[in-house]
Amino acid sequence: MIEPSKKTGIAEAHSKLILMGEHAVVYRKPAIAIPFPILNASSIIEKTNSKIIYINSHLYNGPADAAPTFLQGIVKSIDAVLTYLQKPKMGFTIHIKSEIPIGRGLGSSAAIALAVIKAVFQYFQVRADKSLLLKFVEIAEKHAHGNPSGIDMEAAYEKEPIWFIKGEKTDTIKIKCPFFLVVADTGRFGETYAAVSSIREKYESNRRETELAINKIADATFEAKMALQSGRLPALGQAMNEAQRQLTNLGVSDNHLDNLIALARQKGALGAKLTGGGRGGCMIALTDSLSTAEGLAQQLLAGGASQAWAYQVQSTD
Ligand code: MEV
Repeated sequence: MIEPSKKTGIAEAHSKLILMGEHAVVYRKPAIAIPFPILNASSIIEKTNSKIIYINSHLYNGPADAAPTFLQGIVKSIDAVLTYLQKPKMGFTIHIKSEIPIGRGLGSSAAIALAVIKAVFQYFQVRADKSLLLKFVEIAEKHAHGNPSGIDMEAAYEKEPIWFIKGEKTDTIKIKCPFFLVVADTGRFGETYAAVSSIREKYESNRRETELAINKIADATFEAKMALQSGRLPALGQAMNEAQRQLTNLGVSDNHLDNLIALARQKGALGAKLTGGGRGGCMIALTDSLSTAEGLAQQLLAGGASQAWAYQVQSTD
């Protein structure tokens, strides 16, 4: 354990869930993301006398320059921060800890990048607002995902549910009454990059049908927003089911996700769908009480999920 001292930066960021609108968001349709504060990433920057920067994490331990591909985006963004701050690229170790499983649509790369970048600014005692922090997180996100919509890093930063449209200012959504989600992990790496590319190919080769599915996801996302604002959970569940139907039409669900989603509905979930990129990764199911969500989490574990979490979502005030 490192003792925090004056020359130490410490920061944390949470994982996220896309409640509605994944994939359609790439085509400038709205999406709703919510913080998932059950799983977090944190970073500590520790001063050293070394002539290089070290990374110390469960993923990799060694010089930043020699980091494996999946960490190179973060290394690039740290490099950009140091150039911006006009600081030498040496003399500290970046400790990273993360509980967020990688490649499951939970925004692990954005949360890790945000925690590290916040910690670097803190270490140099420079205040950074949201747009400055996210400018550097975006470097890591582009490296990890090609051309992401930006929803993951917005959701990693915000503490409230968000209404996100690519290229527009993010709004928060006030939820009228709490709702309960089960998040279940297939245990398999989701192929976000491949899933996004496959929809792009469909879009080029069969534009009419692909656009129809994307528009239906957008309509369901608007329905979901109204349901959240008016506290109509069955309507939210129906919107989630419709989004899942269209994501299946777009080819980004898979058997394991479909089985968990079917099981959740059969056991009384108000709605269920994949979350994030799909083709592996996680699914979410909606319930109207925490005890139902906890029971459902157990049933999904028994039905083949590798991990499952039940939690309550609400606005903070
Ligand atoms: C990934 O968390 C969400 C996608 O919509 C991709 C993106 O928005 O960049 C699948």
